[in-house]
Amino acid sequence: MRDSFVTIAYIAASALFILSLGGLSRQQTARRGNLFGIAGMLIALTATAARMDFGGYGILVAALLPGIVIGALLAWRVQMTAMPQLIAILHSFVGFAAVLVGIATYLSQHQQVGEGEAAIHLIEIFIGVCIGSVTFTGSVIAFGKLQGKITGRPLLIPGRHLVNIALLIFTVALGVWFFRAPGIEGQTALVAATMLTGLLGAHLVLAIGGADMPVVVSMLNSYSGWAAAAAGFMLSNDLLIITGALVGSSGAILSYIMCQGMNRSFLSVMLGGFGTEAATASSADTSQEGVVQSVDASQAADLLRGARKIVIVPGYGLAVAQAQHALAEVVRLLRERGADVRFAIHPVAGRLPGHMNVLLAEANVPYDIVFEMDEINSTLNEVDVVLVIGANDIVNPSAMEDPSSPIAGMPVLRVWEARTVVVMKRSMASGYAGVNNPLFYRENTLMLFGDARKVTDEIVTEMRSQLNK
Ligand code: TAP
Repeated sequence: MRDSFVTIAYIAASALFILSLGGLSRQQTARRGNLFGIAGMLIALTATAARMDFGGYGILVAALLPGIVIGALLAWRVQMTAMPQLIAILHSFVGFAAVLVGIATYLSQHQQVGEGEAAIHLIEIFIGVCIGSVTFTGSVIAFGKLQGKITGRPLLIPGRHLVNIALLIFTVALGVWFFRAPGIEGQTALVAATMLTGLLGAHLVLAIGGADMPVVVSMLNSYSGWAAAAAGFMLSNDLLIITGALVGSSGAILSYIMCQGMNRSFLSVMLGGFGTEAATASSADTSQEGVVQSVDASQAADLLRGARKIVIVPGYGLAVAQAQHALAEVVRLLRERGADVRFAIHPVAGRLPGHMNVLLAEANVPYDIVFEMDEINSTLNEVDVVLVIGANDIVNPSAMEDPSSPIAGMPVLRVWEARTVVVMKRSMASGYAGVNNPLFYRENTLMLFGDARKVTDEIVTEMRSQLNK
């Protein structure tokens, strides 16, 4: 009876997780997707607890409660801009859990399974522990880099690919030793393999440049899924296998999409060393390229008021300044006047996937005026005013026009095709990739210098006062 209840609950939880992922793929349904995920997890936890036949509920609650409190506090307090490092450190927990589950399973259980099964079980344990260990150290290093505790510059030791290959070969050799060891005598090999793969994970991520860290975070997300799936095999828990596979494959797909958005090949990111060129360019490429024209908030408000078709391109600076609510008010006022206002979202705008969509949703910007880069790019030449707010790399024409640029080939929003471009930022400083932006010197570009929040507030005040006249 209890077994059938657990099976039904696991099927329900799996279905909810799939619905959750489906919901999260669109802004309109993201909230519902989150609710499905929460419901699935509650069912999963309850069913797994019901499956325990040795009691121990006191220990379970004692372990769960601090985790719930710490997790809720962290999620509550985290700034949107610090999300990537929170995600990275959470992945490290999954990796660490997979290592612990693997070692504990080996020491306690494996003699009890039949011979054929035992061989498969040993493979599951070894692979699970290795993936878990790579995920753990890789995620801790990624956290350190994103938090600024470790330098973002890639660590490129001579012969680093050979070092990685050697670590892999030694790990495989330890696997053979582990597999052949009788009883639990393979524990030395297992611990040694944990250390080697830990070293491999740390080394792989240390070699990756700052510009590619987002891809690494989503790749570690994928690894953490596979580590969880491996733990599911070790614990004979179908739900953990399904959930792990969902996380593993969705993380892999996201990494691929992000690589495309940044025009990086997945393999080159994984092998590390990227980001070096960008870092060098930032220090070298500071030359002036022409005359800069600037406007103030009142002139920008006039321009916007006179425009019929307006596109707004938000970037990282919008998130830093927390200007989304003021911007939403500007949009509301413009639409009230009958202007056609749309948002253009670059796939890697900001610092994490969907960053801009979250900010706009927070400010209740209607979903139907928010467009992806590919949907809107070909229409930018019909636009009267493009307002770029706190964005830089994603509107840099040198990505298309200068093959020697560190961001050459990265797809960008072709804002310069509009009649007038207003770029709101604090200075002429470069963006994340550290490259100069020729857009700022174009004839049809007007710079609007200042903090995005302050300037957008000024535009709102200006527009309101004109409405009241
Ligand atoms: P960036 O190229 O980083 O440019 C942001 C600009 O915002 C800066 O040039 C900065 O100029 C301005 N800014 C900062 N604070 C501001 C404030 N308070 N008010 C007004 N402006 C402010 O951002 P982007 O255009 O969004 O492009 C994203 C970049 O990050 C890409 O290179 C992408 O590859 C990378 N990346 C993306 C992700 C994901 S997944 N989205 C993750 C990590 C990295 P001032 O200093 O002059 O104000």
